[in-house]
Amino acid sequence: MAKILPQSLGLAPELPAHVGIIMDGNGRWAKERGLPRPMGHRAGMERLRGLIRLSSDLGITALSLYAFSTENWKRPAGEIDALMRLFMEYFRRELDSLHENGVCIRTLGEKSVFPAAVQEALETAERKTGANRGLKLNVALNYGSRGEVVRAANLLVARGKPVSEADLMNALYTAGLPDLDLVIRTGGEQRLSNFLLLQAAYAELVFVQDYFPDFTDERYVDCLREYQRRNRRFGALQG
Ligand code: FPP
Repeated sequence: MAKILPQSLGLAPELPAHVGIIMDGNGRWAKERGLPRPMGHRAGMERLRGLIRLSSDLGITALSLYAFSTENWKRPAGEIDALMRLFMEYFRRELDSLHENGVCIRTLGEKSVFPAAVQEALETAERKTGANRGLKLNVALNYGSRGEVVRAANLLVARGKPVSEADLMNALYTAGLPDLDLVIRTGGEQRLSNFLLLQAAYAELVFVQDYFPDFTDERYVDCLREYQRRNRRFGALQG
């Protein structure tokens, strides 16, 4: 149930059902302050509470966050280690309040390669919130879209019959979720970086300059407003 009317924030009533955020710029945020990169990731993590709360209060169906890509393993061990500790801290610290708010947590990606303690924190979060009916919060961890499609293809091949588009979409980590309507990337770059490529087939893309730790709730609302200005045709003519 929405607790905030979009109109009260200057938005039209039609919100995106599914928003994705590519949370980029944590490292640069830290560097500009003379801080180690993990401090940027921590500052980014601190932004999540507001963004999740606002999405939930507005009644957005699903929010997908790109937290760790399959390519992020190429980073220095110290940074990877710091990220693993942040993921654990986040899911342990925020779980009760997310649960109380009816948020349903799902991870997208292959978790088995993560340290056991991280896997345990993620699985606990998914198990505890699995039946919740509020915001569907998806966290992409060790995620890459091409790898996801390969995994889906192998699942489908094993069935040994022709595959429909719906079969393919249902074999992805995001099975059952609506397609992405809006993908926001912070940090000034304009690319999708292997994030939910099939799910974003018709998504509106909004690129913002702010580094993720500077991406305030107000900037998020600006992105929703930008989305509402777009003319979505899905390949058809102007309606
Ligand atoms: C990209 O910025 C960001 C990441 C690889 C990590 C994102 C992680 C968080 C926001 C922390 C917590 C997340 C959860 C779900 C608890 P970058 O390091 O590539 O930034 P740069 O381009 O400035 O170097």
